[in-house]
Order: sequence, then C-alpha cells, then structure tokens
Amino acid sequence: MHFHIMTLFPEMVLEGLRTSIIGRAEEKGCISIDAVNIRDYTLDRHKKVDDYTYGGGAGMLMQAQPVYDCWKALDEKIAARKDMEHDRTRVIYVTPQGKVFNQKMAADLAGEEDLIFLCGHYEGIDERVLEEIVTDYISIGDYVLTGGELPAMVMIDAVSRLVPGVLSNDESAQTESHSNGLLEYPQYSRPEVWHEKKVPDVLLSGHHANIEKWRLEQSLNRTRERRPELYDEYMREHPPQPAKKRKKRHHEPNITSD
Ligand code: ADE
Repeated sequence: MHFHIMTLFPEMVLEGLRTSIIGRAEEKGCISIDAVNIRDYTLDRHKKVDDYTYGGGAGMLMQAQPVYDCWKALDEKIAARKDMEHDRTRVIYVTPQGKVFNQKMAADLAGEEDLIFLCGHYEGIDERVLEEIVTDYISIGDYVLTGGELPAMVMIDAVSRLVPGVLSNDESAQTESHSNGLLEYPQYSRPEVWHEKKVPDVLLSGHHANIEKWRLEQSLNRTRERRPELYDEYMREHPPQPAKKRKKRHHEPNITSD
C-alpha cells in the first residue's frame, strides 16, 4: 500500500507517522508514505497558494492551480510506476463535510494499492479543483480542525494496520473493537487480584467455549450500554436465532399436554 499525502505541512505528517508501528511497517516495506508540498507547485512568484473568496466572507481559500498541478504530478508518478493502464487512484479529500470515517471504510480503503490524501487549510479549497480530482469526501467526526493533516494521519493509521504484515499478531486486528460491529470485551492480565478486584473465574477455567460465550456476552452488553446505535445495527444484522427444536428420537414417548 502506497500512501501519498498532498499537504502544506509535509514534515508534520511524516514526523507523526514515522514512529512506532506505522514507522516500522514502512521500514519493513509493507507500506510507503510520501508527502508532497502543494506549495512547490504554485506558479505564484511569492509562493502564495491561497486567495480571497469570491462573494466575500471570512478567510482565505486554497487556489485550484497548485492543488491541481500537485495532483497531476502525483498521478503521473503513480501511473509510471504501474507501467500500464490503471484504474484512477482514489483521492480522499479530508473534510468535515465528508462521510464519517469508520472501520468498514478503513477496510475498504485497505484494498487499494495507492491512496492519495488531500489536506486542506484555511477556509477550504476552490470547489472547481475538488470536482475534478476528488473521488471520496471523508470526515473523522463532527467537529472542525484547523487542517486536514491530523484527519489524514488518523485514516492512514487505521488503514495501515489492516495491511497484511503491519501488525505482528494477526489476531489483534480480528477480535478488536469494531471489527465485528461490536465493542471489544474487557481484558485482564496479571496479577489475578488487583485492588481487591479478581479476574472473572471463567477466564481462568481454560474452558474455551465458555470463554468465547462470556466474551460475546460482554461485547454485547458493553456495546448496548456505550453505543446503542451500533448495538441496534448489530442486532438487525444478526437477529437472534429461534432455539432449534430437538428431533424426537424413535423410542421417545409422544407426550401431549392435555
Ligand atoms: N478538516 C477539518 N476538520 C476535519 C474533520 N473533522 N475531518 C476531516 N477533515 C477535517
């Protein structure tokens, strides 16, 4: 997976992502992260990339020209690497006006070979260039940040950990919160008793079926309490199965109640 970030602050994104698990994943070659400075593409003598908005209103807008030329250079670079006809690389504009990001969207994006993130600043970006290059409008939540760099980093982190080889323990991506539509069950480590709180007996029993059952119950309860809307969705998708009628054996008497 190759991430390409169009930004006015490449060092912010690179410094933030090149640490810990994501940094190691890049060193191992599971992912690559490349940040390009939109300012490098401006044709303005003073390196300006923003201007006032037509119609008035507070704040400055990022202009179409540097954003478009930056994207064009990136797109051509990606095409050259692929060395053949390729589907258009998805361009994600991180914006509070987008669809709110979730684990399903992370899984969908993890299936791509390249992803371009466009980070806006000031009051946003000229609509005309967005119409031409953006394929996905994504927000990380219903609040407004000063720029798109942090949201892009959040999404790149969430997508990267779904790329094969990034996490050392495959298990952890499968059982964690949101991967099955539920929040994860509570977990415990040593010691067995801490602050007079004991680890639930079932977890010490070694009985795997009972442990799985307990964990699912805990996940369901926790999701119902903390995220009722997720619980409702899960129950719609997994309606409780009616208890199976046990087949009557030949030798069993036919007992009727009257
Ligand atoms: N840019 C500013 N705020 C944002 C948000 N909440 N999500 C994505 N991009 C943003």
